[in-house]
Amino acid sequence: NLEKEIKEYKSILLAYGEGSIKKYGLYQKVVDVLKTNKINFCELSGIKPNPRLTSVKHGIDLCRKNKVDFILAVGAGSTIDCAKAVAFGYYYEGDVWDFFKGKAQIKNALPLGTILTLPATGSEMNGGTVISNEELQEKLSVAGDLLRPLFSILDPVYTMTLPKEQTAAGVADIMAHVFEQYYSPVEDAYLQNRLSEAILKTCIEFGPIAIKEPENYEARANLMWAGSLALNGLLSYGKIGDWAVHNIEHEISAIYDLTHGTGLAIIYPNWMNFVLNDKTVDKFAEYAKNVFGINGSDKFQNAKEGINKTREFFDSIGLPSTLSQVKIGSENLNTMAEKAIINNEGEMGRYVKLGEKDVLAILKMCV
Ligand code: NZQ
Ligand code: ZN
Repeated sequence: NLEKEIKEYKSILLAYGEGSIKKYGLYQKVVDVLKTNKINFCELSGIKPNPRLTSVKHGIDLCRKNKVDFILAVGAGSTIDCAKAVAFGYYYEGDVWDFFKGKAQIKNALPLGTILTLPATGSEMNGGTVISNEELQEKLSVAGDLLRPLFSILDPVYTMTLPKEQTAAGVADIMAHVFEQYYSPVEDAYLQNRLSEAILKTCIEFGPIAIKEPENYEARANLMWAGSLALNGLLSYGKIGDWAVHNIEHEISAIYDLTHGTGLAIIYPNWMNFVLNDKTVDKFAEYAKNVFGINGSDKFQNAKEGINKTREFFDSIGLPSTLSQVKIGSENLNTMAEKAIINNEGEMGRYVKLGEKDVLAILKMCV
């Protein structure tokens, strides 16, 4: 498939992470296809999890020097996100961080394709990118349809080498994407809600299997498809997403370089408990019933059991439930709460609106 997709291009930027694609043989396969088709290429390597602005800037320089006409990202979400930022930064004379601060708009981007090796972010099928500015300790996102990859190759076999921790963090990220869109101020959208529950059940069914049997094709394939469907726009048609938990997590990983999915697993059940009230209880009871089969006579009890089951599931796949388990203390909680509100222009959460005090309270529950 790769050959068919790229043979019209003359000069490619091959973007990848810190070496897993070399270790497991995918790098050589890609290079062989490029060489056979006599396509020039340069390499942007060493892209770190929580991709750094410095990698983006380096990629832009490489593209300009080598007159690149296509970017091929091979790896996980961080590699793809970095490639996306290079794609639009290439056309901009100013500082590429301007886009993340809302000072510049995406008007043009180099075409981009991906070969995915970790189901999690959905970046392979969406127009989003999240970049960390290490100097400012900020982690911000930008989205635009020009950033949707022209193609993405999803072969579940490439995900069989994932360690347990990355597999589990990916599962938590996929589930978190569903939650962010499931818990919405829009009450109807029946089909989108049932699709959401199907993706959650797929994660709950196949996450533990992929962890126990890394080479189980069915498990890897189902998780891979779940990851793309969870954040390609399908679940949010006609809906408004919440995204407060993601925004809180981005503040944590901006300072502590925490694995994104791990942070989400710590925060989500706490957010659920925090926002559970008379207004939200029906939605949480619906989740408990349709995802976990909990259907007692007391809806509050059902909702709480559903939230407990969520925590138990994350525990069962080896994810931590507190920040202290990942060696994060309470020293920066105030800063993170404050920045979360500033970075979201004073408005956090669309399903349940959160102020700075609420964010701080949720962070305290996570410690
Ligand atoms: O760097 P290498 O050596 O390739 O190793 C990676 C990396 O250490 C490794 N890995 C990937 N595939 C592998 C593998 N190891 C063995 N076998 C394989 N097949 O896994 C590590 C994970 O890297 P990373 O790219 O950080 O993971 P992920 O895909 O979870 O991406 C997380 C980033 O995406 C952002 C997150 O905030 C975070 O920065 N997000 C992007 C979104 C988007 N673009 O739409 C939305 C998400 O909500 C998220 O915010
Ligand atoms: Zn996410």
